[in-house]
Amino acid sequence: MLKIEQVVAGYGRLTALKNIDLRVDKGEVVFVVGPNGAGKSTLLKTISGLMAPTSGRISFQGERVDGKAPEQVCRKGLALIPEGRHIFKTLTVQENLLVGAMIRKNAMEVRADMEMVLETFPILRERYNGVAGHLSGGEQQQLAIARSILQRPTLLMIDEPSLGLAPLMIDQVYSSLRQLNQTGLTLLIVEQSTGRIMDLASRIYVLRNGNVVLEDAPGNLANGNALDAAYFGFSDNAA
Ligand SMILES: Nc1ncnc2c1ncn2[C@@H]1O[C@H](COP(=O)(O)OP(=O)(O)O)[C@@H](O)[C@H]1O
Ligand SMILES: [Mg+2]
Repeated sequence: MLKIEQVVAGYGRLTALKNIDLRVDKGEVVFVVGPNGAGKSTLLKTISGLMAPTSGRISFQGERVDGKAPEQVCRKGLALIPEGRHIFKTLTVQENLLVGAMIRKNAMEVRADMEMVLETFPILRERYNGVAGHLSGGEQQQLAIARSILQRPTLLMIDEPSLGLAPLMIDQVYSSLRQLNQTGLTLLIVEQSTGRIMDLASRIYVLRNGNVVLEDAPGNLANGNALDAAYFGFSDNAA
């Protein structure tokens, strides 16, 4: 569904992504994990068109998207929730959700999807007319996810959904992501922490210093040693 080949990207003279190869198949939940500064956010920005790669190809459903503007990429069904969520804090929950649906034409479908996201995130129904800035961090993350669902993406990318959340909230966010995945949404999720990703992941990539140093299924990483070695760059085991 999403295929990234030999992608190089950076900021001026700094190369943040060095020949990245990565794929996401339909129905998968793919995690990209790595320490701070590894290039995770740069990867998502490059896929979503916020940055153009220096070289390499990015294709989505068989079509090249590298070099396309973010709104064109978004229209093809690739949505990004950036780090920090970017919800509108002075707007109500309802208004935030309607922003997500803005590019949609069919009002009946939007109503049905609105009902679906309120089922998935009951807290948003409770706070529907409340100001979004009053929600907790975890609730704001749920709002950001719900809003992007209303764009009807085929593939949703999320930059560090668990950042700054209490453990219980992480559970809630992850379980809603699982639910959305079960309804057919493909996910590409970036996290700094590997602690909770195993149950949800179809496949895991470890990114370090702009390189993919490991790619595997969670079942093969069960004891965690290979994952830790790649993540921290232990010399005996890492690529
Ligand atoms: N806007 C920017 N301008 C210059 N350098 C940046 C910018 N954003 C990130 N970088 C650098 O690019 C590298 C990768 O950063 P980033 O993709 O944000 O990593 P991560 O999301 O994994 O923490 C880091 O060395 C970081 O300092
Ligand atoms: Mg980041």
